Amino acid sequence: MSYLTIKFLHLLMAALSISGFAVRGYWMLTRSDLLSNRVVRIAPHVIDTVFLLSGIWLAFMLSASTFTQPWLLAKIAGLVAYIIFGTVALKRGPTMRVRVVAFVAALLAFAYIVGAALMKSPASWFAATSG
Ligand code: HEM
Repeated sequence: MSYLTIKFLHLLMAALSISGFAVRGYWMLTRSDLLSNRVVRIAPHVIDTVFLLSGIWLAFMLSASTFTQPWLLAKIAGLVAYIIFGTVALKRGPTMRVRVVAFVAALLAFAYIVGAALMKSPASWFAATSG
């Protein structure tokens, strides 16, 4: 598969991951039973696995040394934060207040990662643009 195909897959999974998370976050806020639906519980794991693998694949296609680039390390750290805040928001948070704060933090972590990906910098959206 070509680099562009994998990149498209990566971006598609990013869009599915965050939109799926936002919808589940809404169901968490409205205390909807849909959150415990089988498909709703399993689909995110499939999406996030393809998402992560496509990212690793892209990095390898660029060059194995891409893994030492600060922007990529920042993305991986951001991804860990997105996952941890995400599980606290949807599952582990003991009170609604904790869950809401974790939900917002997960959305911010995702926004940070997109900024780091586009700007190729750990400074994310705050990175100085060239020119
Ligand atoms: C929530 C997690 C992630 C988000 C939101 C995300 C988002 C993005 C976006 C928006 C791009 C396009 C950048 C551009 O067009 O210049 C991109 C590219 C890329 N991502 Fe991710 N990504 C995530 C996780 C990962 C992970 C975990 C890896 C690797 C382990 C990874 C590796 C890459 C690579 C190598 C590129 C290619 C950059 C290029 O072609 O210039 N990503 N990502």
